[in-house]
Amino acid sequence: MRLNVPIRGLAAAAALIPLLHAAPVAAADADLVARGAYLATAAGCANCHTDSAHGGQPYAGGLALGTPFGTFYTPNITPDPETGIGRWTDAQFLRALREGVRPDGANYFPAFPYTSYTNILDEDARAIKAFLLAQPPVRQPNRRHDVSFPFSWRFLQNFWKLLFFTEGPFQPAPDRGAAYNRGAYLVTALAHCGECHTPRNSLGVMDPDRFLAGAPPPGPGGKKAPNITPDPQTGIGNWSDDDILGVLTDGHTPEFDQVGGPMAEVVKDTAKLSEEDRRAIVVYLRSVPAKPGAELK
Ligand code: HEC
Ligand code: HEC
Repeated sequence: MRLNVPIRGLAAAAALIPLLHAAPVAAADADLVARGAYLATAAGCANCHTDSAHGGQPYAGGLALGTPFGTFYTPNITPDPETGIGRWTDAQFLRALREGVRPDGANYFPAFPYTSYTNILDEDARAIKAFLLAQPPVRQPNRRHDVSFPFSWRFLQNFWKLLFFTEGPFQPAPDRGAAYNRGAYLVTALAHCGECHTPRNSLGVMDPDRFLAGAPPPGPGGKKAPNITPDPQTGIGNWSDDDILGVLTDGHTPEFDQVGGPMAEVVKDTAKLSEEDRRAIVVYLRSVPAKPGAELK
């Protein structure tokens, strides 16, 4: 009996060795996943990849996105190996976000806002992937897009890209402060504010000269996204910093209104960001060139 104790103790200690060894690694993983969760929230990945209105599981896709070119259905990005992205390598994931290219080499349609996500930094994209792969796998096959010819041709996206796509990653402006650069990264790369608030031409390309100057509804039944440049008449130039912060914190506008439609979903995410990050967005919005809004207002 007495002899057994130290032996048992030893065995227990031996069993602990791999645990002790594994502990820091597991903690590092947990950190990465937590960082990825924050970044995925800032980037609104769940808003498009969850069909909440129809009881869809988080990140299992299936949400219909109406566009002037037809309806796109978001894919499953849970870790399910057959129907999700469970078998994807980091390189494949990075390439999807940075280049808008599928593992088989075909192009994505810009209904997936890779045009903004291209600016996400590699280490942030890796953290987002680690977070996604830590979510429960959901077996749900992807639904075919319902997009009419010729927009349905993936290879035509090559020309589109050649003409209109600028690959990232985000480059901070050396002559600007940390808050400006953090805000620029959040607005242009992660939160992709311009994808809704910047007007597009007939090929669906954002007009760089009218960045954030407001855009008509993206599809039937949609809402117009107002001008959020500092233009005092048609934009938010007359809003105070706290007014803008208020929208990003709980959706209330200085007109005692509450933003609705897709902006209500965006606010659920910006509300979860640190106040420092929300203030960085305000700093950046304050410093983009003021542009008068078009026929929208
Ligand atoms: C505005 C809606 C929207 C948002 C926001 C969005 N996605 Fe997507 N995503 C799509 C659509 C649509 C596709 C399919 C594009 C296609 O088939 O050409 C897609 C495709 C993908 C794919 C490719 C999956 C496959 O099976 O090929 C990955 C990976 C992905 N998204 C990850 C993300 C991540 C990570 C985020 C957040 C950083 C995100 N998405 C945010 C709409 C969105
Ligand atoms: C998915 C599309 C979408 C994205 C992404 C988006 N917005 Fe919006 N935003 C809208 C729409 C639509 C409205 C109008 C809501 C309404 O009329 O109730 C709006 C309203 C606003 C308003 C209120 C403007 C006013 O004059 O009342 C502000 C400010 C704003 N958005 C800022 C942002 C910022 C900052 C981001 C990025 C963090 C962002 N939005 C991302 C669609 C979007």
